[in-house]
Amino acid sequence: MNPPGTLVQQFSVPFRYEVAFTRGVFRPDNPVLRDILSAREPQRRHRALVVLDAGVAASHPDLGAAIAAYFDVHEAHLELVAPVVLLPGGEAAKNDPALITRLHTTLYAHHIDRQSFVIAIGGGAVLDAAGYAAATCHRGVRTVRLPTTVLSQNDSGVGVKNGINAFGAKNYLGTFFPPFAVVNDLDLLATLPRRERVAGYAEAIKVALIRDAAFFDWIEANAVALARGEAGPLAHLVVRSAELHARHIAQAGDPFELGSAKPLDFGHWSAHKLESLTDHELRHGEAVGLGVALDSRYSAAVGLLAQPEAERIEAVLLRVGLPTWHPALELRKPDGRRAVLDGIEDFREHLGGELTVTLLRAIGQGVEVNTLDTALLERLLDARAQAQPAGGAAGRARGAGRS
Ligand SMILES: NC(=O)c1ccc[n+]([C@@H]2O[C@H](COP(=O)([O-])OP(=O)(O)OC[C@H]3O[C@@H](n4cnc5c(N)ncnc54)[C@H](O)[C@@H]3O)[C@@H](O)[C@H]2O)c1
Ligand SMILES: [Zn+2]
Repeated sequence: MNPPGTLVQQFSVPFRYEVAFTRGVFRPDNPVLRDILSAREPQRRHRALVVLDAGVAASHPDLGAAIAAYFDVHEAHLELVAPVVLLPGGEAAKNDPALITRLHTTLYAHHIDRQSFVIAIGGGAVLDAAGYAAATCHRGVRTVRLPTTVLSQNDSGVGVKNGINAFGAKNYLGTFFPPFAVVNDLDLLATLPRRERVAGYAEAIKVALIRDAAFFDWIEANAVALARGEAGPLAHLVVRSAELHARHIAQAGDPFELGSAKPLDFGHWSAHKLESLTDHELRHGEAVGLGVALDSRYSAAVGLLAQPEAERIEAVLLRVGLPTWHPALELRKPDGRRAVLDGIEDFREHLGGELTVTLLRAIGQGVEVNTLDTALLERLLDARAQAQPAGGAAGRARGAGRS
């Protein structure tokens, strides 16, 4: 019953978007993007502004011309309102508020309205920055994402969030704003540096561990091919991981993260801390791999997961090329405690209430817990540190080198 004198307002808004997989998205005869942009109002000509990751542009020097030519060929349906706008790739896209102001200014100058499109092409960082700018113009301009990294194609790009960094805090400013559509062009991944490609595997391993044992078995069986970057296995990994992430967001009942449980953040309480402790020298995916290894060992130590399964997980991480140890795990605070463990409190604060961390009860089955035993975590990390060969282990070298 309503409290007297109170009007209770309740409604829900259905969201629906396609995640398309294609190759050669800007080949003139590829209809995928044209059809997505014109699906809702086929009679109209659709105006679009393209924001492109400068790192992608540098690796694909012909892309700008190919985009312009695509809009020319499809001019009956599409209009490119301005030359492609370049944004710096990587975290730089999210650290400088002047870049967001520049995007807002460009959207304003070209009269991008709520029926027009922002097409964002790039890694997760550029998608986050361009998505945030689009979401805050006219209270939300239609955004089509074309992710260009393994991580953004198989995880972040298919999700509903965007964000930029502010006050030294990652993703402090941001919105929940589902995209109009996502187009994953697997060909774009070919130019990705090896380190970036491998980092993206961590999110696929993560989602397999919490949701799909058969997918984990498949990754294990294909780990060497994935490490080599073979096109077939890479494509399967991206498609299946994107599907599992998208399905989780749609079906787990909390797409806008109102509650405390965030199963897709398995392994992330330490990952976020390791990223900041290394000043982002560690890639997000690498940090997630370290976090997944740690939380799998912890799951075994508290009797949830069989010990051999924890070892199997670590072996798969190593086999695809991810580090399972990094010197940042050893950084100490003045009181002697490991700095990474502060990630637990940061995570609780981010959730906004009770600590809820996902662990594993089996491969393919996550389980939520509300406490972590920091003394036990210290002991696990001590044991792991002692197992490292003196003077820098293989795992360290892999984590530290940029390729
Ligand atoms: N919104 C979300 O839900 C969400 C989720 C997870 C991560 N993220 C964010 O994603 C970001 C990380 O994204 P990322 O791992 O995709 O990498 P990234 O965006 O940091 O890009 C890494 C580097 O690769 C370059 N690059 C991108 N695609 C390329 C290609 N095809 N060929 C050559 N170079 C290419 C970029 O220019 C950049 O230098 C972080 O800022 C993280 O916070 C967002
Ligand atoms: Zn992640």
